[in-house]
Amino acid sequence: MSVQRTEITPEIDEYILNNFSAEDDFLKSLKIQAEMLKIPNIYISADQGRFLQFLIKSINAKRILEIGTLAGYSAIMMARAMDKSGKIISLESNHLHYKFAKEKIDEAGFTDNIEVVVGLAIDYLESYQSDEKFDFVFMDADKSNLINYLELCTPILKKGGIIAVDNAFAMGNLTVENPVFDEIHKHKIKDVYAVREFNQYFKNNPNYFTSLITVGDGLLLGVKQ
Ligand code: SAH
Ligand code: DHB
Ligand code: MG
Repeated sequence: MSVQRTEITPEIDEYILNNFSAEDDFLKSLKIQAEMLKIPNIYISADQGRFLQFLIKSINAKRILEIGTLAGYSAIMMARAMDKSGKIISLESNHLHYKFAKEKIDEAGFTDNIEVVVGLAIDYLESYQSDEKFDFVFMDADKSNLINYLELCTPILKKGGIIAVDNAFAMGNLTVENPVFDEIHKHKIKDVYAVREFNQYFKNNPNYFTSLITVGDGLLLGVKQ
């Protein structure tokens, strides 16, 4: 038996999405409606959502912090994996995204479970006063602040709590020596370097035991020890 990784062919990918996806018709139509408002199509993948749900269930997370709401897609997925009394605080800086996400969260029946906080994530974290800690943090917003987010989240994450970080493959550019972006997207080169730096920073952080998962655009996990 080979120890090499099995190549994920389009057929295997289809199999995964047909069998182990967290996306239902409600979330499919959420994406279509968001597209009409020009909300960018940068959601986690449907199998990645299923994996986040798996993690949330396995630690029985009751309090989750999400950085980067977008249209509420990942927040709704995570809420569905929690108990009725579960609470998610989701941070979003863009007003259009905030407004749309709030509507969808209400429609999905999670008004009492998901609180979307509009503003810069760093401002929320720097002024966090509550003694209540989080069981799970999902980071999926601006890449240049990842190290700051990790430092600010560590004191408010329970021991045994998990931090999951999207885009650990740097939008596909993790190991590309000279990533090239077109004129419109050339600012994203900074994000590629920020992700590369963050992956090493998180891996070398003695507060966490980390693992890099090949789902979506890469999911970097750390459990606080
Ligand atoms: N988690 C979402 C996708 C998030 S996309 C999902 O999978 O469904 C990233 C989001 O982070 C965008 O909506 C963007 O507006 C928001 N964002 C970017 N920088 C931010 C910041 N500094 N503070 C809060 N939100 C930010
Ligand atoms: C981008 C950001 C994301 O969080 C993502 O999952 C995919 C793409 C981006 O900024 O391009
Ligand atoms: Mg992302």
